[in-house]
Amino acid sequence: MRKGRPSRYRLAVTRRPSLRGSVCAPVALALAAAGLTAGCAFDGPMSTLVGRSDLNHQILSIYSTITWLVAIIAGVVFVALAVILVRFRERPGADGLPRQIRGHTALELAWTIAPALILLVIAIPTIQVIFRTQGAAAPSNALEVTVRGWQWWWEFRYASLDVVTANEVHLPLGRPIVFLLEGPDVIHSFWVPQLGGKRDVVPGRLNRITLTPDRAGEYWGQCAEFCGASHANMGLRVIVEEAPAFERWVAAQKAVPPEPSGDAAEGKAIYVRSACVGCHSLRGVSAGTLGPDLTHFGGRALFGAGLWPTNVDNVVAWLKDPPRLKPGSKMPNLHLTDADARALAVYLTSLK
Ligand code: CUA
Repeated sequence: MRKGRPSRYRLAVTRRPSLRGSVCAPVALALAAAGLTAGCAFDGPMSTLVGRSDLNHQILSIYSTITWLVAIIAGVVFVALAVILVRFRERPGADGLPRQIRGHTALELAWTIAPALILLVIAIPTIQVIFRTQGAAAPSNALEVTVRGWQWWWEFRYASLDVVTANEVHLPLGRPIVFLLEGPDVIHSFWVPQLGGKRDVVPGRLNRITLTPDRAGEYWGQCAEFCGASHANMGLRVIVEEAPAFERWVAAQKAVPPEPSGDAAEGKAIYVRSACVGCHSLRGVSAGTLGPDLTHFGGRALFGAGLWPTNVDNVVAWLKDPPRLKPGSKMPNLHLTDADARALAVYLTSLK
């Protein structure tokens, strides 16, 4: 039997192979990945890397800590791996197994303690942010907005302002906002990536998100919990604006739309005598509660929960067959004639 350390374990003294070939492949792969992901704009409307609220800045600080930590660990692992592969490679003429390290106490301790420390470094700021952002008491000047997730649209109620809207929520810049999340039908998840993390909208439970938007702009959101056929068609927009602009918007929302004339008046007559009134609220006209409030429908840039620009042609197409355009839509096809659908669309889009 051979004595002493097997030859393949000895430090390499022979000429080492060139690393050029083995380095080129990973570099090429990294460049290809960078090229492919360059299309995923980091500041796109649904980017989670852009923080526009205090809540999101705190989430992004954890994200940044973890990303750097993981990058450093990956660097150490890859360098160690490269060194080991080169240094302990099989040599010509070597035979038998190299010296085994099973039961090496120091190594066992090291690879138990190191991951525990890494998890601790991640856990401490994570738990801190969870407690800071889930605080029970909202600031006294906070604006409460009740968010109700419906199949497949969003309702926003500002109880203190007596304003109700759908799929498009306006917020004043710099003021704390408390979103109270209610689920009237199934579980949804309220998610506006640039303003904060996802939070489930659960029937029978009141969840909340408190945040303060810190930059004016338009932010996209999306239901983030599978909730049925049109889950993917359940978008929303958040418009954060300076206080005066927000006040003007509130005043416009509180106003009762003027009495329509011409085609719009005909559309209103059709609306009043059709099944629309059973589901939709329209201030001074109807008081349904199952569909979006239509009082200022024409003032919202998009309809159908972020699906289409609000204009007469799009609304006509929608009214003619809602379930065809939005699978599973709870709004039935009322088999309107072309003329009735157009008159209705003219009326609805006039409601600014
Ligand atoms: Cu609502 Cu998915």
